[in-house]
Amino acid sequence: MSEGLIEVRVASVADVAPKIREFRFTPVAEALPPFSPGAHVVVEMPGAGKTYRNAYSLMSDPFNPENYGIAVRLQDESRGGSVFMHTQVKEGDVLRITPPANLFAPHWAAKKHILLAGGVGITPFMSYLPEMQRRGADYELHYLFRSEQTGAYRDELKKALGERFFSYDSDAGEKCDVRALLAQGAPGTHIYICGPESLIHAVKAEAEAMGVPAGFIHYEEFAAPKPGKPFTVKVASSGQEVAVSADDSMLEALEAAGVEVTNMCRGGVCGQCVTRVLEGTPEHRDDFLSAAEKSRNDCVMPCVSRAVTDSLTLDL
Ligand code: FES
Repeated sequence: MSEGLIEVRVASVADVAPKIREFRFTPVAEALPPFSPGAHVVVEMPGAGKTYRNAYSLMSDPFNPENYGIAVRLQDESRGGSVFMHTQVKEGDVLRITPPANLFAPHWAAKKHILLAGGVGITPFMSYLPEMQRRGADYELHYLFRSEQTGAYRDELKKALGERFFSYDSDAGEKCDVRALLAQGAPGTHIYICGPESLIHAVKAEAEAMGVPAGFIHYEEFAAPKPGKPFTVKVASSGQEVAVSADDSMLEALEAAGVEVTNMCRGGVCGQCVTRVLEGTPEHRDDFLSAAEKSRNDCVMPCVSRAVTDSLTLDL
């Protein structure tokens, strides 16, 4: 994780909604690498006593990435990362980020794209839209938010997208009829969802009930690892024992102990961190392994998953 990191300078910080702060990064040395619509970076946040690492979607125009933009929602139950970004990071600071990676790219062969954003889930679509416009793609953006907390960029989106833009402010009692929305999708329409777990699950369930093929539904959620009971992870190659506290993920505890584990999304979806389990029983919390793989209990995704047993021995 520390190898290949890019140093960036915080060029600007702006509040774009009551609980959302935007950061623009410019390069410290070389130009920033190009990226594709839907890409994200992991931002390293050196807090007191703990380094946080969170994934954020890039909002800049991929065609012209003079700077990288991210937007961070202050989480009500923050594990520290969003509080760090909101209270510690200021203009001129230097941070380290990973090169961009993409787990949520548009499917350009689609006849139509329906984009569904919930709150700060608008961010990956900010990099989709310039490319959708350039390609003349058929698309709609449906933006669900609470104006007392989120709803960033809605005025400029409305102006730029016109009749392709639909907004639903739940603080004003506005609701999105997901079923009606999905029902109007002609064959070949792809649906993209980014937002809270509840929104993703609701749309997926509705789509499944309506017989929409799973391959036409795409979603991204960078959920912070949820807390759980503490346990010990044993590193088979060295015999090292690492304590995983209730609030830390297994991946974070291993990193803090100097054990490198390949990772990309840090949210249980990309599969990069998969690690063999030699002893103990994992508590699977990822969206990557199949039900059959989970039932075998012979591998685990340390970025989000934990242990049922008091210890877990990993093939590291
Ligand atoms: S880092 Fe992506 S699944 Fe663990």
